[in-house]
Amino acid sequence: MSIQSERAERTKSYCYDRFGMFIHWGLYAIPAEGEWIRSNKRISIEDYQPYFDTFDPVNYDPKKWAKLAKKAGMRYAVLTTKHHDGFCLFDSQYTDYKATNTPAGRDLVREYVDAFRAEGIKIGFYYSLLDWHHPDYPAYNDNIHPMRGNEAYKNQNGEHFERYVEYMHNQVRELLTNYGKIDIIWFDFSYDDMTAEKWEATKMVKMARELQPGIIIDNRMGGDVCSAEPEIYSGDFASPEQMIPAWGVRDVNGDPVPWETCITLNGHWGYCAKDHNYKSARNVINMLMECVSKGGNLLLNVGPDAKGNIPDESIEILTEVGEWMRLNSEAVYGCGIADIPKHDWGRITKSDDALYLYVQDTCCEDIAIYDCPYKAKGAVLLADGSYVRMQEPWNAHSYKTNGKVPLFVQTPEFRNLNGNANVIKIYLDKE
Ligand code: GLC
Repeated sequence: MSIQSERAERTKSYCYDRFGMFIHWGLYAIPAEGEWIRSNKRISIEDYQPYFDTFDPVNYDPKKWAKLAKKAGMRYAVLTTKHHDGFCLFDSQYTDYKATNTPAGRDLVREYVDAFRAEGIKIGFYYSLLDWHHPDYPAYNDNIHPMRGNEAYKNQNGEHFERYVEYMHNQVRELLTNYGKIDIIWFDFSYDDMTAEKWEATKMVKMARELQPGIIIDNRMGGDVCSAEPEIYSGDFASPEQMIPAWGVRDVNGDPVPWETCITLNGHWGYCAKDHNYKSARNVINMLMECVSKGGNLLLNVGPDAKGNIPDESIEILTEVGEWMRLNSEAVYGCGIADIPKHDWGRITKSDDALYLYVQDTCCEDIAIYDCPYKAKGAVLLADGSYVRMQEPWNAHSYKTNGKVPLFVQTPEFRNLNGNANVIKIYLDKE
């Protein structure tokens, strides 16, 4: 089997799921300015220590997080087990820089795993390839390390980088051994010459697949997931960030590549107290349907605060998204590219036997689907199954596209069942 068909096989259920929850959580929730604060403000390990000493998430209850994710219609989750600051939410035997040694006093990853698994949500681990705490990670000459250009770190340039690589491999082995079945490992990220075999990526992937045969791996260890012959470490999916690729993601041969965009709910991954610039539920649903219509997944982020609470705004948005998903998730799960051009009124997704019209914008009585390669048996409003008329306006023949009369479907706006856009399901005639 080619690497591409193995990849397609492995990612089937991950692609079916389409919608996941990203969770950025760690010591940086305390200074509350996002997870890059150490680098942005060039904070030393010593000056960051108070956050370690006071990390006391008294409200940490991942069951609540898991219930929220479930309600929102998310089918998998990815938690930052270690971010760039090197702090581990899990009880690693290879470091003291872990939740167990803070006032939290326990393995927070284990509770996450148990809670999300109990809700039937697939388990993902984010693991930072960067580590601003480890003494063998290059500092002085690195372009993003908090201590870059700092004379006191002149000698920290990764002379014994192999020790860091071993540390990292050991930790990944722990994560993929001690918590049962792990569905996704999300390495982050490669830059400059810090890429691919610098991380001993081939060895890492082999280990991951040996420990967790079905695991899905992102593409940030390096290589090119879109090339004709991807490296073993190029991963299973492309991972655009804060953007939705114009045409989805395809490889050099034009074949679709699994992809997942990760997007924040406000402007930050880690908790940021001052950032109230949240997207609306409508924005989120638009993004989700855009991703699905282009054959991709949406990994939507929450940044719980230092006490372990997901911000109220995020809860409200996800709850509203969940209301829409309750009625319309059929247009999301297992759906993908419809092979019909983008239409002015919205987006189209497709399952094996139906088209789903996500009608964002309507004007007149009927909306047209032009250049449609399928025959229709009939249409309903997805939310309640009620009949939707499909009827050609009497003079439609005068207004063909590419020699064909479009399909016409009654516009759903006049019986909007909820505040957010409606979906029309078209049953396809497969004969
Ligand atoms: C970037 C950032 C990181 C964030 C990630 C999410 O790589 O470094 O802070 O976790 O994107 O995709």
